[in-house]
Amino acid sequence: MKELRAEAHRAMERAYAPYSRFRVGAAVETAEGTIHGGCNVENASFSVTMCAERVAIGAAVTAGSRALIRVYVCSTSAEPVPPCGVCRQALSEFGPDLEVLSEGSGGRLEKWTLRQLLPEQFRLEEHVQGDSGGAKAGGERHT
Ligand code: THU
Repeated sequence: MKELRAEAHRAMERAYAPYSRFRVGAAVETAEGTIHGGCNVENASFSVTMCAERVAIGAAVTAGSRALIRVYVCSTSAEPVPPCGVCRQALSEFGPDLEVLSEGSGGRLEKWTLRQLLPEQFRLEEHVQGDSGGAKAGGERHT
């Protein structure tokens, strides 16, 4: 946990947040025990902004680790920041039973399960039967 927290804080220092001035760092831990950090990366075209959590997911997947077990988030907010809705769905792809920890700059640590934050997780393969419109579910997933 110490290492996971340290990576989240390191990532937060690298945040590119010139528009919001709100720095976020995230670190994910995988079933293999590896840790991957991410920071928010903003853009002049605001909707292009990437949240720290999704950048950390990308780092893990790029490194070949897809089974996420824990994510640690920290930010410049005094209170712990819960992952946004988009990040909750993104996390559920690789860690449906993830433990989510978030630390405020005031020092308070909040813990949730991803199922608490996103009780109804969307999975394409649960909804696509046969060839309905060209979509193919199943394919190459994380496990
Ligand atoms: N942000 C994150 O990185 N993670 C979250 O869960 C909430 C929001 C970032 C996106 C943007 O750069 C800034 O915080 C303000 O929304």
